[in-house]
Amino acid sequence: MAHSEPMRWEGDRIVILDQRRLPQERVERALCNVGDVVDAIVTMAVRGAPLIGIVAAYGLVLAARHGRASVLEAAHMLRTARPTAVNLMRAVDRMRAIVATASDHAIVQALEQEAHAIAQEEARANYAIGIWALQLIRPEDGVLTHCNAGALATAPYGTATAPMYIAHEQGRAVKVYATETRPVLQGARLTAYELAQAGIDVTLITDSMVGTLMAQGKVHAVVVGADRIAANGDTANKIGTYTIAVLAKAHNIPLYVTAPTSSIDARTPTGAHIPIEERDASEVTTIQGTLVAPVGVHVYNPAFDITPHHLITAIVTEQGIIRAPYEDKIARL
Ligand code: MRU
Repeated sequence: MAHSEPMRWEGDRIVILDQRRLPQERVERALCNVGDVVDAIVTMAVRGAPLIGIVAAYGLVLAARHGRASVLEAAHMLRTARPTAVNLMRAVDRMRAIVATASDHAIVQALEQEAHAIAQEEARANYAIGIWALQLIRPEDGVLTHCNAGALATAPYGTATAPMYIAHEQGRAVKVYATETRPVLQGARLTAYELAQAGIDVTLITDSMVGTLMAQGKVHAVVVGADRIAANGDTANKIGTYTIAVLAKAHNIPLYVTAPTSSIDARTPTGAHIPIEERDASEVTTIQGTLVAPVGVHVYNPAFDITPHHLITAIVTEQGIIRAPYEDKIARL
């Protein structure tokens, strides 16, 4: 199956698909140094928790060409480029551990190998998540997803989309509802795009339609990704996930969080300790560059919210399906 490929490594550069331009245009952009990589992550030309970890890892390979000190400086810039997704910090820390042990002449090669390992592990995790999560979805179910936890956010199968891609590959019918996901519209621009490209039955709705859809009995399961899962199972994901989780609970619909173990942060005790990124007001006052609000209006723009663990039916990682109580099971992962 043709999946949307969000990035590739070309030995001396990272080539990304600029996600800000989708779905209107498929524009590739070369990232040739750490400044380019930081800019691409901050401006969300590349986004999605696992993907920013992978791209940051390759960014450190680029930095290594200028010596060990450059890698450490770059590691600091990349680690802080976006605060919520823990995959970014985890990937950078893995690369830093390599720097600590590699000799000067082998550092570039050692870092490149580690970046490949991170990318391959995420790809394998996606497929395994899909196989596990598929057990939770019955044929003909209407499945709602939020934001983009798809191939564009990570590696071939995505996380929340992995069961949908695998069901489709197996010839099983799957009906997906994708929320548009204001303010940056990852659901409309990316999830609807990549699923439709793959030939999957996807219906786009605005964020405010979720309750109606659930009340009409059209949604049988909610499957979302995660940017960070705390030790007690509380989960940070794209803003709006919490609202959907409350609605799902009210309608007795299961909500599954799908994420690789690289999104689990057992050192963060609860969701209250997860740093939530606040982004520029222009994301709310404009839609694709067009002003939709009065100039100067006060804006609050948290990019993520916390879904408390009691609203999560199960967490699916590459290692399997876990259900509440989460604390011990997460510690073991
Ligand atoms: O701000 P983004 O687009 O980088 O947000 C990350 C996400 O895509 C979602 O929160 C997603 O559900 C988790 S990442 C697979």
